[in-house]
Amino acid sequence: MQQLPITDVRHILEKKFAKNKVTILVGETGSGKSTQVPQFIKDMGYGKERIAITQPRRVAAINLAKRVAEETNSKLGLAVGYSVRFQNMSGPNTRIKFLTDGMLLRELLLKPSLDQYSTVILDEAHERTVTTDLLMGFLKDLVAKRSNLRLIVMSATLDADRFSRFFDGAEVLYVQGRRFPVQRYYLSRPVEDVVDACVRTAIQIHVGEPTGDILAFLAGQEDIDKAKDLLDGLSGGFQKGVPELVALPLYAALPPQQQMRVFEKLPNSQRKIILATNIAETSLTVSGVRYVIDGGTHKVKVWRHDLGLDSLLTMPISKSNAAQRMGRAGREAAGKVYRLYTEPDYETLRGQSEPEIERCDVAFPILTLKSAGVIDIIGWNWLERPNKGAIMSALTQLYVLKALDDDGAITDFGLKMALLPLSPRFSAVLLRSQERGVESPVLDIVSCLSIENLVMNPHPDKRDEVNEKRLPFVAASGGMGDLITLRSYLLHFRSLETAEEKRDWCKEVHINYRAISNVEDVRKQLERYLKSNANGTTNNESKLTNSEINESIIKCFLSGFAANTALMIPGKQYSTTAGGQTINIHPSSSMFGKKAPAIMYTEFIYTTKAYARNVSPIELEWLQKIAPHYLGRMFGGSEE
Ligand code: CDP
Ligand code: MG
Repeated sequence: MQQLPITDVRHILEKKFAKNKVTILVGETGSGKSTQVPQFIKDMGYGKERIAITQPRRVAAINLAKRVAEETNSKLGLAVGYSVRFQNMSGPNTRIKFLTDGMLLRELLLKPSLDQYSTVILDEAHERTVTTDLLMGFLKDLVAKRSNLRLIVMSATLDADRFSRFFDGAEVLYVQGRRFPVQRYYLSRPVEDVVDACVRTAIQIHVGEPTGDILAFLAGQEDIDKAKDLLDGLSGGFQKGVPELVALPLYAALPPQQQMRVFEKLPNSQRKIILATNIAETSLTVSGVRYVIDGGTHKVKVWRHDLGLDSLLTMPISKSNAAQRMGRAGREAAGKVYRLYTEPDYETLRGQSEPEIERCDVAFPILTLKSAGVIDIIGWNWLERPNKGAIMSALTQLYVLKALDDDGAITDFGLKMALLPLSPRFSAVLLRSQERGVESPVLDIVSCLSIENLVMNPHPDKRDEVNEKRLPFVAASGGMGDLITLRSYLLHFRSLETAEEKRDWCKEVHINYRAISNVEDVRKQLERYLKSNANGTTNNESKLTNSEINESIIKCFLSGFAANTALMIPGKQYSTTAGGQTINIHPSSSMFGKKAPAIMYTEFIYTTKAYARNVSPIELEWLQKIAPHYLGRMFGGSEE
């Protein structure tokens, strides 16, 4: 086993773990919590039963499992394994199991006692994802019930009191991380273009500073791709003797193989610059980093329950995020952090970020609670209770989806929904598709939608050319909109034989080759989840014409997305049925510039205007049948 800061205190930790039912463990990123603590527990002899260790991110779960398997000389999937959405690498003999928090939640619903585990470790608790928050609530009850269950909550930041109080004064232990001094630099004046500032800072470091890799934090994929393009454009432009600068992106939507590239060691003639979102803040440890560039922002999903929509906003980070980012430069030697904001601006940042539960759609968490038999939602064990407006809007959503009945109790349909690893709307769509006998095509589409950035936005110069290549597929949808078009892309991709043909075609129509190559995997997993749910499905597909199938598909989606519908108003605009808000069809849609009396969309984004994406035309009659209350509300009706 490696010599890490945590190794020095191993015996103290083991004594405490043996004594306490609940322990809070705080230690800086890189001190060895995630890789070592499960091994300590196993070596203490508790590994006969299983040890579960959760991660908010799938890439972290996979990566940690690989690492621990290596350290313990075992084959991945045997003694050490992982389970993440759409991928299971664990078996009956797995003793240390890394899971995403969502997967543990699912196991908990299937088996509320979790007695397959002797120990549950909730890692990265400081991230305060909704799912980790929920798990804490459930586990608080469970440790009281099960005398042989041990819980360890691990956090990389110092705000552990909150957890300790929640667990009735559980003991908090600290591991002093390895920390070298990090010199801070601020901008003297704010900059407009963070990407440009980041690239310039990177060049400055590259030509002026001794060896050591660079880790740059940017808000999202768009900025990262832009920075990568700029840096790639520079390669070869440096003087002789200056190493090559290799830019590697790292964000959640990137295929796993590409994410893994940031961990590869490069030859001495190259310097790495990792362009990452906040994914690299705490959960992934990349060695070799000496310089950090902190762009100062991150993307945050914000749910406006009054409008019933999710939007992804770029927001300033908190001081706690800034400290984590800075820390990444000083793990192995003294380092430097370049903050792309001014010192006075730093002082205005808030101390901690708002927990996700206070700003996201809580329909899924509430469905989970209902499915676990919780009756009093407001009075439940919340680590942080969402506000009542958000809870009410979630209950309404679940009622409309028929997951809850008139009394607010969970229905059989709702119980099935809760076990699918999708948002409640998509779960409803999939389950309805079984009833309507169009499971297979709907699975195709939902799998495509589960993968981000499958259909890429062409560069403005290329837009016309790409659109022309896409035209036959839009036509093949019979004017039924983006969801059906998405499927015609997939069907064509499937029909191509060689990887080369597939790749060429993707290039032509600007479809992300790697993304679409993952669709079948996702589909298989979803199908498996559905199968474990199904009781006798019908398959009508063979009896129907293409256009009947398409109509049936759209109706399935409408049963999940009735709240995302809008009616045409003059000026190529639409007015949402749920809130009467004006909305436009996004230019990337095949429905852009076309007219339909009513539309349904699976995504709503707000940039300069409100836009609907993944748009399908619908008939008012369908909406009338499936969700009449939306039309009622539009015309001043008084349903609900
Ligand atoms: O969880 P925590 O941040 O405290 O540390 P960890 O993830 O257990 O990582 C401990 C050390 O193991 C890090 O400093 C890395 O050098 C190393 N590590 C690695 O090289 N590769 C991994 N996939 C995970 C960890
Ligand atoms: Mg960790």
